[in-house]
Amino acid sequence: MSYDDAIKALSNNALKFVKDDYIIGLGSGRAATAFVKSLAKLIKVKNYNIKGVPTSLQIKLIAEKAGIPLVESDQVDVIDVVFDGADQIDSQKYVIKGGGGALLRENILFSLAKKVVIMADKTKFVKNFTRTVPIEVHPLARTSVIHSIKKLGGTAQLRSLDKGYPFFTENGNIILDCDFGVIKNPKILSQKIKGVTGVLESGIFLRRPDVIYRAKINGKYDIL
Ligand code: A5P
Repeated sequence: MSYDDAIKALSNNALKFVKDDYIIGLGSGRAATAFVKSLAKLIKVKNYNIKGVPTSLQIKLIAEKAGIPLVESDQVDVIDVVFDGADQIDSQKYVIKGGGGALLRENILFSLAKKVVIMADKTKFVKNFTRTVPIEVHPLARTSVIHSIKKLGGTAQLRSLDKGYPFFTENGNIILDCDFGVIKNPKILSQKIKGVTGVLESGIFLRRPDVIYRAKINGKYDIL
C-alpha cells in the first residue's frame, strides 16, 4: 500500500461531490490526475453532462484522453466544484500551490468555485508553512520583485529547468520560489506579495478549501 493507493481511493470517494450538469474545475498534478481518471469513469457510467475546466495543459491532455468535455475558465462565471492537489497545507487550512507552475489558472478557478476540494498526502500537512512560496511574476519585473521579496523578509530563487534554462509558465511568465522561513501569518504575507507590482499570483491561496482529503501511507485516507 502507498500514498498513490490512498489518492486513488479518495478520488473515487470525492465523486460524491459531483452531480449531473456540473461544471468541474480540474486542478493539476498527481492527485488531480487520479481524480480526472475517476471522474471520466463516472461520466461514462452515469451518462452525465459534465464540463471540465482545466488549470493547465498537463491536466487538459489527461482529461482530453479520458473523453471529458472541456471549456476554458473565461467561458464560465461559476464552477460547481474544483478538485485539486496542494504542495503544503497548514493548520489554518491555507494551502500553498504552484509546485507545478499552474498557480495562476488554479487560483482563477478557486475564485469562481462554489466548493473547493483538496486532495493531498500526509507529508504535505504542517502546523505552519515551511516550504518555499511559488510566485508567478512578469519577466520584466524579475529584478524589482526580487528586491520587494527581500523587503518582505524573503529570498527569491528563479525557477529553472534541469539544464539551467528558466522555467516559463503557460502564461509566459517566470516563477520565483521564495523562502520566508516558517510562515506564521500566511494571509498577511500573501496580501503583501500580491501587492507587489509585477506579481501575477502568489502560491499562498487566500480562498481556503471547503473539503480536504488526507491520504495515508497505508492506502487509507481521512477527511478534514
Ligand atoms: C500545480 O501548480 C500545483 O499547485 C499542484 O496542484 C500541486 O503541486 C500538487 O500536485 P501533486 O498532486 O502532484 O502533489
